[in-house]
Amino acid sequence: MRKPVIAGNWKMHKTISEGFKFIDDIKENVKDTDVEVMLFVPYTMLKSMKDYTDGTNIIIGAQNMHFEENGAYTGEISPLMLKDINVKNTLVGHSERREYFNETDETVNKKILKALEHDIDVILCVGEKLEERENNIEKDVVKKQIIKAFENVSAKMMNKIVIAYEPIWAIGTGKTASSEDANEMISFIRSEIQNLYDDEISEEIRILYGGSVKPTNVEELMNQDDIDGGLVGGASLKADQFIELVNF
Ligand code: PGA
Repeated sequence: MRKPVIAGNWKMHKTISEGFKFIDDIKENVKDTDVEVMLFVPYTMLKSMKDYTDGTNIIIGAQNMHFEENGAYTGEISPLMLKDINVKNTLVGHSERREYFNETDETVNKKILKALEHDIDVILCVGEKLEERENNIEKDVVKKQIIKAFENVSAKMMNKIVIAYEPIWAIGTGKTASSEDANEMISFIRSEIQNLYDDEISEEIRILYGGSVKPTNVEELMNQDDIDGGLVGGASLKADQFIELVNF
């Protein structure tokens, strides 16, 4: 049985005091869940949020990480810095990083390898653009992202990886992929993992859907066989909605 995940991606939102208030509002309401509860927060609040959630079931992670341990990379944060504050989870390859900050399949791969070297768990984000779906090449695009992302990633490390399938046209737009379309792509990703690794890894790896997940559609998405959870932007910013998502 794969443990479901509800992961909030706060993007460039919230101050530390807003983050603390959010935790105060949710922690009693998410503590008895069987769902893995994660929040990917801005760097400025990573340490305080990590400390503030100590002793709860809420996992705090980073939204990005550089693939070098240190060096002349102004504005970047390294895996050693994350480990320094006990943060052991990061997103890699979010479509906004690919689109606005020149993240490529190659840098995504380097980041995954470096994160794993430092025992940091990764949520790898993949997904196609609208025109790619309209041209019926969405599976080719996602397959290429997956193959490159896992280059040189050994089978024994795959239990540290979660994949999030996020069609770019569904992010922040209010348009959700139909649960059937989302499930179809996620089952395709699972079969690609089987090709790259083996049956066991493809059965065990958790694959999330992301893109306008909200309390009104979460149950339908979660009822699909291959969807193991959600990576949630907008609806993760409001405590009441986040609680509903976790308790779908
Ligand atoms: P959204 O964002 O839920 O606001 O569509 C999802 C994401 O970008 O991870």
